[in-house]
Amino acid sequence: MEKVVISLGGSIIIPGDRDGEFLHRFASMLIPLTEDREIFVVCGGGRIARYYIITGRELGAGEDALDEMGIEVTRLNARLLQIALGDRAYDDVPRTVEKTAAQGRRGRVAVMGGTTPGHTTDGVSAALAEKVGASRIVNATSVDGVYSSDPRKFADSVKYERLTFEELDAMMGKGKHGAGNSHVFDPLGAEIVKRCRIPILVVDGRDIDEMRNAILGQRIKGTIIDG
Ligand code: UTP
Repeated sequence: MEKVVISLGGSIIIPGDRDGEFLHRFASMLIPLTEDREIFVVCGGGRIARYYIITGRELGAGEDALDEMGIEVTRLNARLLQIALGDRAYDDVPRTVEKTAAQGRRGRVAVMGGTTPGHTTDGVSAALAEKVGASRIVNATSVDGVYSSDPRKFADSVKYERLTFEELDAMMGKGKHGAGNSHVFDPLGAEIVKRCRIPILVVDGRDIDEMRNAILGQRIKGTIIDG
């Protein structure tokens, strides 16, 4: 059976913009799709994670301790999605990709957050996708695709329809992981997808129709990263 992993950014789950209503609509869209495929969702930490990381850093906490706080928030967000999914979700948030992989079955949605310090939930979604042999990763973000520069800052920024894994790699730069750092995708995740050739579909996570199309592997308005 087809398997799809969704990396649901924290900026989609808890931006503070009718979040309960969005999670309800997202869950209602997801449930019927579990009849024909196994769906896995990895939840990000968003602004609440960033708040703890910034405040903890100000107090002198080390990077691992900051990452741990970020991970706690991703798990809280995973709980929110599980609540929205009701009896279609489990009521515990697994702490490893192995345990989440074992929860995959038709009619249910397996939901997790972060795992260990040193990467982000995009990296977790790539590791999970490799583990379950996913057909694709849907990367649900607050922008509607990958742009040449930040479209919120530069008017001449252009959206890419398609990128290769190598181009994604080049965009990651040589940046090291730091708690709360944000890239197009996480460097560890980019390594994994390049090796396994699992396509990533970068879409606006709050656009429910676009999300459905991405999960189904149909035409999207966002960016496809593949071969
Ligand atoms: P996110 O995955 O939300 O990272 O985890 P992010 O890059 O800030 O969010 P997006 O991609 O822009 O939505 C929040 C923080 O939690 C820690 C990291 O510090 C990360 O920045 N984290 C998360 C880990 O250390 N390990 C994990 O497995 C997940």
